[in-house]
Order: sequence, then C-alpha cells, then structure tokens
Amino acid sequence: MKPTDIPRLRTRSEIRETVRAWKREGLRIGFVPTMGALHSGHLSLVTEALERSDRVVASIFVNPEQFAKGEDLDVYPRDEDADCAKLAEVGCHLAYCPTHEEMYPPGSLTNVAVKKLSDLLDGGPRPHFFYGVTTVVARLFIHVEPDIAVFGEKDFQQLQIIRRMVTDLGFDLEVIGAPTVRDADGLAQSSRNLYLKADERRRAGGLHAALHRAKCRIEAGTPIDVCLEEAHNYIAVCGFTQIDYMKAVNPITLLDLNEQEVVEGSEGRLLGAGWFGTTRLIDNIGFHRKN
Ligand code: PAJ
Repeated sequence: MKPTDIPRLRTRSEIRETVRAWKREGLRIGFVPTMGALHSGHLSLVTEALERSDRVVASIFVNPEQFAKGEDLDVYPRDEDADCAKLAEVGCHLAYCPTHEEMYPPGSLTNVAVKKLSDLLDGGPRPHFFYGVTTVVARLFIHVEPDIAVFGEKDFQQLQIIRRMVTDLGFDLEVIGAPTVRDADGLAQSSRNLYLKADERRRAGGLHAALHRAKCRIEAGTPIDVCLEEAHNYIAVCGFTQIDYMKAVNPITLLDLNEQEVVEGSEGRLLGAGWFGTTRLIDNIGFHRKN
C-alpha cells in the first residue's frame, strides 16, 4: 500500500539535520520547490527528481515576496494535508513546510536579484516577481542543501533565472529543467486554469497550438516575424482578450531573436502570454532551426 502522508519539517535546523544525515550515508538529495496547490505538473518534477537522486524533498511555501499588493496572495489555494498526501503517493520522502519567520527571520533585509533577466517578459508587468522568486529560492537552497533541484520548463524564464543565480552565486547543485505537463488539448497544467470559465477553457489550448505551429514553421525556414504574427493572430481569434507578448528569444539572454541571428542549427525559445478575462496564461516551446 502506498503511504498517505510523509514527514513534514518546519525549521531550517530540522531539515539541515535530516539532509546532512542522509548525505553522511552517501545519499544524493533531490529538491522540488513549490507553493503547494499541487497538480500532476508539480508531481512530475518529484518523479524526475526521484529518477536522479536517492531522497527527494519538496517544499511548500506560498512566498509573499513574489506577490504584489492586489495579487492573489490571500486567495492562493492552501491545503497542506492534500498536498502532502499527493507527495506521498508519488514517493516523495519529505515535505519542508517552513513558517514565514523561518524563511524571513524578523529584521530580514537581504534579497537576491538576478538583474536584467528579471525585468524582461513576465518581469515587465510584475516587476517585483522574479526578485521575490530568487530571494526565496536562494534561501530554500541554503536551508535544504540539495545536490539537484528540479524546476518546470512551464515557467521557462524562472528556470533560466534560477540557472543564472546558481552559476553566479556558486551554489553547489545541479538545476534540472523538466518538461511541461499538459492536458489532452495541449493546455499547460496550472492551478490558475481552475479560474477559466467553461468556454474559455475550451479555447485555452489555442496558446499551445499557436506556439507549436510557430515552432514547426520556424524550423522549416519561415521568417520569425511572420510566424510570431501568425501566432499572435491565432490566439486573438481563440478569444485571448489581451496579449502581453508573443516572442522568440535567445534561451540564455532571453533577448529577442531576429531572423539574421537564427542560422542553421541555432536554438531559440518561443514564449507567449495572454489573458482570458481575468486569468493570465503563459506557455513556451523550444525550437531548433534545421536549415
Ligand atoms: P509553483 O507555481 O508552485 O510551481 C512549482 C514548480 O512546478 C515550478 O518549477 C513550476 O515550473 C512547476 N510547474 C508548474 N506547472 C507545471 C507543469 N504543467 N508542468 C511541469 N512543471 C510545472 O514556481 C513556483 O511555484 C514558485 O515561483 C517557486 C519556484 C516555488 C518559488 O516560490
């Protein structure tokens, strides 16, 4: 029978003691940071971590630093028991559910900022967002001391910012990007999908369809700006009420790619973000120009 719960630790000293004891036994530690409200996208990261390590820690912490006033912090879904049951089900070994004081000790003044990358794309409309993410993830890395940490490609900008931070600060761990888990129509799984009305949900798969088509067309040699315009028009027709961006970027610098830079063999990332009423959806896909 599968376990229905896993140990939950709340303090830095407890997690450090447990992880260090595992390391003394020669075990490799995998880590999956989350904000809870777990769905199969999150759980796939745990599975990925289990394949690459001996013990997997998942954290659940709704990080106030990455929400601006008026964003959904207060209504962000919280159900620790249900989340821990899901983690147990997929074989996660431990949940780290720190208190606010544990993550941000009173008087805390230290932030971690990955400049430039944090101001592009999703950082434009949410200037506080990635600074909050890097601040909490750096603190979590220091608490947990993992050998590997798994993040979803679903949040590609976040993944690349974390990679930059790990390189710049010399964290002794490997960052793994795991593929996006999607519903049958291609919509990337997200806790925010629940906010979509039935007719919006029916049309939301259009974002992935548009990105996928653009990827195929770019790889076949169609100019990038033509493909981006088509993708933009496609999601507008699907009913996206506002489109924040539809871009092809260099995956490392996250800067726009233009046609001259995309030579044979070069790789890029297509990213799109748009709104259905009050729900913002993002998605992305990699491309590789073959000729
Ligand atoms: P959260 O939104 O809970 O996501 C936790 C992890 O799950 C992230 O790495 C995210 O990219 C991944 N994820 C979400 N949906 C996915 C999907 N459909 N397929 C694959 N992976 C998916 O991202 C955060 O929390 C926070 O910013 C955090 C990194 C925990 C810092 O607070």
